[in-house]
Amino acid sequence: MWEPQGIYSKFLLKQPTILFGENAIMGLKTYASSKVVVIHGSSLSEDYKQKVSSAMSSFEVNFVKKTWEGEPTLETLNPTIKKVEEFRPDLIIAIGGGSVIDGAKMVRTYYEFPFFDVNETSFSMLNWKTTLVAVPTTIGSGAEISSASVMYNDAEKTKEFVVSHQFIPEIIVLEASLIIDAPKKILLSSMVDALSHAIEGYMSTIDNLLVDSYAEKAIQIISQYHEVISKGVDEQNINKLQLASLFAGLVQNHCIVGATHALAHQMSAYGLSHSSAIAIFLPSVIKKNIKNPIVNSRFEQLAKHSGFAKGEDLLGFVEEFITGFDLTKELNVVRSNKEQILADDVFFQQALNDKGGQGNPIPMDKEFLMDIFNEASL
Ligand SMILES: [Fe+2]
Repeated sequence: MWEPQGIYSKFLLKQPTILFGENAIMGLKTYASSKVVVIHGSSLSEDYKQKVSSAMSSFEVNFVKKTWEGEPTLETLNPTIKKVEEFRPDLIIAIGGGSVIDGAKMVRTYYEFPFFDVNETSFSMLNWKTTLVAVPTTIGSGAEISSASVMYNDAEKTKEFVVSHQFIPEIIVLEASLIIDAPKKILLSSMVDALSHAIEGYMSTIDNLLVDSYAEKAIQIISQYHEVISKGVDEQNINKLQLASLFAGLVQNHCIVGATHALAHQMSAYGLSHSSAIAIFLPSVIKKNIKNPIVNSRFEQLAKHSGFAKGEDLLGFVEEFITGFDLTKELNVVRSNKEQILADDVFFQQALNDKGGQGNPIPMDKEFLMDIFNEASL
């Protein structure tokens, strides 16, 4: 994680324990706990619940289905917080997609610090009594390694990022069995999201040699193993993609992503999923950024270090990957709203203000984003 310190930079690499591979959840047996609460999404099977219960060496395991849909709001988190407060766990497991994991970060925060204020930005004092375990059932978002919890502000009708580096779970469990049945289109578009975290993070204004190697490795793994998604079930190789996605998430969390994310976040108001919107904008953003020779040499370096002969090949891989799944419906949404969006100052102003897109290597202005939007919606 990068923190501005004025005259110097501070790099913190907070690395959680990562359990991965077949039956990785059984690794939790070695973590002592008395009472465990499992916060989960709507599709957790009874079999997996059984597996989690037998993996714990605690006295009691309580399963709580999340009480929010999509991004949580303070209101929709409340019933879950109440249940957790009544049960008083010392270990919290979040099993689900990004919004389940992000919601669980806030549930733990309010359980331990009831007077927590989402508008307060200096939370480095949070010292947890509980342990948080994230078990992602999707791939690509990087929520499991993110310092942000994406909330929905009901009053303003906007997504909000509540950020504390203390939010990163202490343990991450990556089990391929939990994601292997997801629809192929979702898996493929999510891998584009992971690619975008590695590429945008690497190219961002925040530079760190150690984090660079995570981006290079993530891209190398995705380019080497992505075909397992379309060619058939292979848990071992899906697990490699889960790790690549986590590496890419670490890059995103440290380096702050750029214009692709700034624009994609605005498209959620038009019903587009995060990963579909990312797939629509990523190639145009890369092309626009690498027009600058310094940025281009950085992209060339990324390509070479991640196993490609030159930048053009990495860009070609990204473009070909995106044509591997059908984005017609999503592109039609962008095209049919194009005139209105281009005439809408608020859309681009919100993109420029987006906290999750401030790391673009070329300073962004409205015209810069409009050019990208125009090219992406051709
Ligand atoms: Fe993303």
